[in-house]
Amino acid sequence: MTGSRSNSIDLAAERRDTPGVAHRAHFNNAGAALMPRQVLQAVTDHLSRESEIGGYEAAAEQAARLDRIYDSIAMLVGAHRDEISIAENATVAWQRAFCSMDFQPGDRILTTSAEFAANYIAFLQIARRNGVSVEVVPDDDSGALDPGGLDRMIDGRVRLIAITWIPTNGGLINPATEVGRIARAHGIPYLLDACQAIGQMPVDVEALGCDMLTATGRKFLRAPRGTGFLYIRRALLERTEPSMLDLFGAKVVDLGSYELRPDARRFETWETNYSTRLGLGAAADYALALGLEAI
Ligand SMILES: Cc1ncc(COP(=O)(O)O)c(C=O)c1O
Repeated sequence: MTGSRSNSIDLAAERRDTPGVAHRAHFNNAGAALMPRQVLQAVTDHLSRESEIGGYEAAAEQAARLDRIYDSIAMLVGAHRDEISIAENATVAWQRAFCSMDFQPGDRILTTSAEFAANYIAFLQIARRNGVSVEVVPDDDSGALDPGGLDRMIDGRVRLIAITWIPTNGGLINPATEVGRIARAHGIPYLLDACQAIGQMPVDVEALGCDMLTATGRKFLRAPRGTGFLYIRRALLERTEPSMLDLFGAKVVDLGSYELRPDARRFETWETNYSTRLGLGAAADYALALGLEAI
């Protein structure tokens, strides 16, 4: 690893850090990239330690490092650590954000023709349950979402704009920043699926103007499979209650009431896979050390 934020990458060092390249030319980063050895080690070391001293004890040993993962991910997207929630994959992170919105009959959700299918299925389910309408913004000639078309569709019933920035297949890049400008101008919550962007290019939630952003670990970020996260802007977080809560997301105050955690971890559950979580943190640190511009 170069350890610098220069705009060049030491390819020989990268190859040394990536055991998988010894055996094959692997291009499937849009599926799941080859992990750097630092990521692999973070995962296997912790799993070994769990087997040696027990899962609770191993987590206690790594408490500071586990806590720092929130700083690393926050830095990766230009957010505050309290706005980050770690999840077992991007789909779960996205669903937690989406399902926390209190949709009412007549509300409109605006999306893109290239939306990730799992997200679209969730739209249809909410449409059926809550009487919401799901509408696809027209594309421009290149197949990307047309911001002018989006702007013309806005009215007082639009409850959410939710799009995929870079779809899974095909190389399309949707104009995520222009969408953010329109969403902000009208005060409409904006949920951005950044799965194929994270780890591949700089991601800055302020510049994007999104209120929620979800990402996976296993693709260009080079984390283990079964990792992801949600960013939720503090102003939205303060008025958002997850649709499902456990004793980590909230605490019992008395027999008749509970209190939410103040930070975005209200979307998490108490039990988690600590080894893959440490792998996610190591992958975020690795990408940050290389520098997203250089990557
Ligand atoms: C655009 C997009 N969104 C969401 C996902 C789902 O990510 P995960 O498997 O971490 O849930 C993918 C994975 O292919 C994706 O490409």
